[in-house]
Formats: sequence, structure tokens, C-alpha cells
Amino acid sequence: MVGYAFMGAAHSQAWRTVNRVYDLPARVRMSLICGRDSGKVAEAADRLGWEGHTTDWRRLVESDDVDVVDICTPGDSHCEIAIAALAAGKHVLCEKPLANTVEEARVMAVAAARARADGVRAMCGFNYRRVPAVTMMRQLIADGRLGVIRHVRAAYLQDWIVDPQFPLVWRLQKDRAGSGALGDIGAHIIDLTQYVTGQRITGVSALTETFVKERPLPAGSSGLAAQADGNGRAMGTVTVDDAAVFVARLDGGALATYEASRFATGRKNALRVEINGSLGTVVFDLERLNELEFYDATRPAAEQGFTRILVTEGEHPYMSAWWPPGHIIGYEHSFTHQMRDFVEAIATGTDPAPSFADALQVQLVLDAVTRSAGLDSRWTEVEPTLAELAA
Ligand SMILES: NC(=O)c1ccc[n+]([C@@H]2O[C@H](COP(=O)([O-])OP(=O)(O)OC[C@H]3O[C@@H](n4cnc5c(N)ncnc54)[C@H](O)[C@@H]3O)[C@@H](O)[C@H]2O)c1
Repeated sequence: MVGYAFMGAAHSQAWRTVNRVYDLPARVRMSLICGRDSGKVAEAADRLGWEGHTTDWRRLVESDDVDVVDICTPGDSHCEIAIAALAAGKHVLCEKPLANTVEEARVMAVAAARARADGVRAMCGFNYRRVPAVTMMRQLIADGRLGVIRHVRAAYLQDWIVDPQFPLVWRLQKDRAGSGALGDIGAHIIDLTQYVTGQRITGVSALTETFVKERPLPAGSSGLAAQADGNGRAMGTVTVDDAAVFVARLDGGALATYEASRFATGRKNALRVEINGSLGTVVFDLERLNELEFYDATRPAAEQGFTRILVTEGEHPYMSAWWPPGHIIGYEHSFTHQMRDFVEAIATGTDPAPSFADALQVQLVLDAVTRSAGLDSRWTEVEPTLAELAA
């Protein structure tokens, strides 16, 4: 694994847990973790349960003892690490968004397609697909229970940078993160809604905004164009969006709205998706992630209404390995489910999803949103994927 902070910890917990919960055809050994600071990575290895540690990710790629490389770093290093790992025959799990640019994502998708011919697997970490209620949402739609999908309504809202004094961390720098709220959390609702509906976004009209344009540099930062504010603190320019909103068309005919913001005061990590079809509606809210709201318009008129389904039965996706019905699960379980599916795909020689090609398509949507916003919200088609170009 490369990176040991937020996602590094979440993924480590999942790697530690996955064989204890699921009966899998392979056993995970947590061999080597990489971080840039030798003292901190040693401490992280001990705390998170890794056998060894290194300050150079190339050691993971070169090591005969490593079969899988898990990339949990900011987007500016995804491409280089993933390409090197795939070329060395390592299976790769890469955090989202796949890359910082469409160009990088294309190179990664091509490398993954080539590696696949040698049995090497690559997957992108859109973990929310693996929340059981989200997987169930997809099943209901695939089974035709919603009929023809008319509307997709998605919002992913946070508020951690409302304070203008919050420092200019890597997520607020385009060269490190690619984009702001759009690529960080907007990418999740783009992937999630396309996954559950089985439809792809074909075009968008978008607005983006950077509400706070200058922020204090984080302690110890260097190399950024800095200037002092009135209090003598070094300031830097925010080079990403704070919020992005867009309307979209899906290829099955649905109209969609998306909102991704880090300025939604009071909203900590509020992901909500509602899908309206000709036969019903489903609603998912991450703050109540064990539940799915379902309105079934085929029921007799007198009995109609939203049903709250508690998605904790053994027959619900992923749930049979956990606790008795009604004993709820949480955020971290989505990562355990992600590792389960990835290990199973590797061990059985099948293609894991979302593939790098799927993640490239999300990147193309992000790119269309950025281009539309730069053109006064002009309607902008999503560029074709590699497969669509080849067809
Ligand atoms: N799936 C999700 O829900 C989710 C949530 C948060 C973040 N992410 C994604 O995960 C990735 C990491 O985000 P995070 O929140 O964990 O960031 P973070 O800042 O918490 O951690 C980043 C880690 O990468 C390390 N790092 C940076 N450059 C490195 C390099 N060149 N070599 C080795 N280590 C390096 C840092 O030291 C740190 O340990 C991003 O792509 C982000 O978009 C996904």
C-alpha cells in the first residue's frame, strides 16, 4: 500500500478484516506499506498491521513478495505508480478519482487493458458501490422495479472549508488534486448514479465556483506562489473549485442534477441520491446507510407510500457474512466489501469493477463539467471512452 493517512487507514482496516469475515479463495498478507517520512511510516506500519515499511513506492513494485499494489495517495501520483505496478505484473487497486487529468486516466486505462491480457487486474476505489443499500438499489433498477428511469437527483455535500482561514491543503491545489469538490466528491455521485441506473452521462451544463480564493499556506509548506495577508501570514491561491453543480442527460433518457460542495454549512459528509422511475422511486442517504427508501407505484393505491427497507438481512448484498438481521454496519464496511470483490476477482481470474476504463469514463464526465463551466455553462458532450472510439 502507498499512503497511510485517511484512505490508508480505511483500506488497512479492510485488508485486515476481509479474510476474517468472508470465505475467500486467497489469503491477504499485508506485506509492505509506503510513506515519505520514515518515522511516521514505521509507526503507521505498526499501528495498521503491516509487516514492513518503506519510503520509496518503487520497492513495492520491485518486490517479489508483493502481488497487489493499493494506491492511497493524492491524485498526482496515481498514474506513475499504477503504470509502474501494472508493468511489473502487480494487480492494482487505485483510489478515486483515477487520475488528475483525462490524459493520465487514458494512459492508465490502456495500461490496465494491456496488463489484463497477462491476467493482471486493476480496479478503481469507488467504494460507495459496495454499501449494501446502494448495491440493492442497482438490483431493484436492473430487475425493472422502477420502470423507465426519468430523474436522477444526486448531492454530495461537505463543509470542512467554510472557514476562510482553513489552510491550503493538497485538496485545494489543482496540480495535486486535479480539481476540488468536483473530482473529490462529485466523482463519487457520478460513479454511483451511473452504476445504479446502468446509464451513462452523455452531456452536461455546469457551474463551478471558488468562494474563497486565497488561503493561508499550511505550516511547513513550500514551493507554492505565496504572499502575506494583512496579518503577515503567507497566503496562497486556491486553484480548484469549492463547489460544482450541473445538469446532465443520461443515455437511457433520464434527466439528472448533481451538486458537489465543500461549502454546505452543517453538512459533514452528506451523500444523497434519489431516482424516480415510471414504476417507483428509490432514495439512498449515506447518513442512514443501512436503509433504502422504496416507493412501489405498482402497489394498490390505498397502500402506496415510501417503505423503509432495513438492508441487513442475510439475503441482502454482502450482509450474510456480518451480523444477525437488524445489527447495522457502517462506513468502513464498504471498504471490506471492496477488498472482498477485488480478492475474489484476482483469485478467480475475473474482471473487477469499476475497471480503469469505467473510471476513465467518470474522468471524462469531470472534464466535460469543467469545460462547460469554463464556457458559461454551455451544453457540453462527454467525450467518448476508448471502447466507444474503437467501436
Ligand atoms: N473512496 C473514498 O471515499 C475516498 C475518501 C477520501 C479520499 N479518497 C482518495 O484517496 C486518495 C488519498 O486521499 P486521503 O484522504 O487518504 O489523503 P491523505 O492526505 O489523508 O493521505 C495521503 C497519503 O499519501 C501519502 N503520500 C503522498 N504522496 C506520496 C508519495 N509520493 N509517496 C508515498 N506516499 C505519499 C501521504 O504521506 C499520506 O499518507 C485520493 O485519491 C482521494 O481522492 C477516497
